[in-house]
Amino acid sequence: MPTKDKTPTIASVDDDTLFRWRWDRGAMDLMTPLNRLYGEATDIDALGQRLKTLLKEKWDARPADLRAQDLARDINPGWFLSQQMVGYVFYIDRFSGTLKALPEKIPYLQELGVTYAHFMPCLKPRPGDSDGGYAVMDYGAINPALGTMADFRKATAKLRAAGISTCVDMVLNHTAKEHVWAQRARAGDAFYQSFYRMFDTDILPRQYEHTLLEVFPNQAPGNFTWYPDIQKWVWTTFNEYQWDLNWENPEVFLAVLGIILDLANNGADVMRLDAVAFMWKRMGTICQNLPEVHDLLQAIVQATRIAAPGVIHKAEAIVGPTDLVPYLGQGRHAGRESNLAYHNNLMVQFWSTLASRDARMMADVLAHHFPKSFRNAQWATYIRCHDDIGWAITEADAERHPPLTGPGHRKFLTDFFTARHPGSFARGADFQVNEVTGDRRTNGTFASLAGLETALESGDAHMIRLAVDRILMGHALIASFGGMPLLYMGDEIGMLNDHSYLDDPDLAGDGRWMQRPRMDWATAGEAATADTPQAWIWRGVRHIMARRKVTPQLAGTVPTEIIPLANPALFALRRPGDEAPLTAVFNFSEHWQNVAGVKLGLNPAERQFDALAGQEALPGSGTLSLPPYGRVWLVPQS
Ligand code: GLC
Repeated sequence: MPTKDKTPTIASVDDDTLFRWRWDRGAMDLMTPLNRLYGEATDIDALGQRLKTLLKEKWDARPADLRAQDLARDINPGWFLSQQMVGYVFYIDRFSGTLKALPEKIPYLQELGVTYAHFMPCLKPRPGDSDGGYAVMDYGAINPALGTMADFRKATAKLRAAGISTCVDMVLNHTAKEHVWAQRARAGDAFYQSFYRMFDTDILPRQYEHTLLEVFPNQAPGNFTWYPDIQKWVWTTFNEYQWDLNWENPEVFLAVLGIILDLANNGADVMRLDAVAFMWKRMGTICQNLPEVHDLLQAIVQATRIAAPGVIHKAEAIVGPTDLVPYLGQGRHAGRESNLAYHNNLMVQFWSTLASRDARMMADVLAHHFPKSFRNAQWATYIRCHDDIGWAITEADAERHPPLTGPGHRKFLTDFFTARHPGSFARGADFQVNEVTGDRRTNGTFASLAGLETALESGDAHMIRLAVDRILMGHALIASFGGMPLLYMGDEIGMLNDHSYLDDPDLAGDGRWMQRPRMDWATAGEAATADTPQAWIWRGVRHIMARRKVTPQLAGTVPTEIIPLANPALFALRRPGDEAPLTAVFNFSEHWQNVAGVKLGLNPAERQFDALAGQEALPGSGTLSLPPYGRVWLVPQS
């Protein structure tokens, strides 16, 4: 029996006790997937002991203010699911120049309602071409061009004080070939050679290639690279200089986990786990989305929950619908895996529907493949990011909507968004044209793809207005679909394609730089008052995000139900909040559209209020009329 003075009180709960409690809470969810992954080949108890020691060491090193935040987030574990969350994604050099200068931009972020800032890759990259920073040579150092780890700590602390969490990229499928592990492997150190996937002959690489796909068929064909100095083939899924890590080796798990926890202790709140689909390989498969990836992710998430519980994880898996859902935790991983994952399918369907003016496939795909909600997880919703658009539309999904076919519709989309299709409003460019499969992807900024570039050149006021409304409709969609909306830097002021990358030899080979312009601070500076299309977009985005924050139905805990409609131009969804449902309707065409309230499932006896515009909607007649690219968030008027 515990004596009275051994009973813990809040005052006596020290950091060791907290660690013990969190270990007890999470050990099973941590060790079960590790046992599945490594139990056969390794002494799992010894691995568990090493892991516990590592977690305790990182917890002991965790600064006091972050431990306090951990406790606050333990008490409010749904903090990241709130409708108050609004994300903003930027390259530090292109946004503020340096990390030191970043805090000066906090008022700008606050004005937009931002509560989550994603720093694009900011760790020390290899020199020269580094795949936009996704080839990291030192995970313990900030890119010297941006600042130091001390600057990082200061910047994240200032953001935190302003109510903004920091997300950083954790590139864990590969390191740069200049990373010290790769260098040691290259020097013949067997311990580090087992960190990578190396082969003495091309026999196995050739066998793997039978079923592998190519990520960069133009700039980096094939998945393996021969290094004559070490007489080895190395697995290089992306570029030659990005060496895939061997996650079958538990030493890799421990080493990468240590890096994640160090970043957490320096102030990162969210880890964007890069290219996770590729982390595990198996002969005879495309080596993407294998079940082991989900065990790995669960183990990373659960280990973090013990040593840095205020930190969450976002999976970057840009894959088809059925492969995407498991990243938010399904079956035995429910509530235990990534807390956020990019909804690339919503993004693809948005663009597809803008081009076709037919939302029926979008409604079908989103209703058919995706659960209405997740446990302890939600989508990161977005329209554009720093990458190209991969047209993840399956044959089966297209064929359910005859006369569409997978290849036919994908060709239509790539033609439409590169203005090869007659009457297209878009201005984009092809990326990674695969001559063998016919596959091609698309680059371009939100505004250029949505027609603003073409419209501004024409000077036609009506076309400009339509482009602005397409852009605002997209923002209203990601703010209400279900998930945390991510604004990509510059999209809030309609920035156009940037071709200046062609003048920089380190960037010229990668067309994705077209959608990574430098922030136009002059335009942003006058956005609150100017009467320009860019300023209309900025004020529209600010308004949408402000309305989101006061609309509880938009929290990540509220399910998303797709409403099938006969009118192909309209897309609608319902968020059945506790008090009253919210019905969001979007017009994907340049014509007025009508829909009867009953078709949306509205109660004819109730008057509807548009929570987006902040005014009454559906006056009297029971029919909703939406202008070109119109959008409403209807809630019954109380
Ligand atoms: C992710 C990044 C992309 C990068 C790739 C390889 O997909 O978003 O920019 O090229 O990973 O790291």
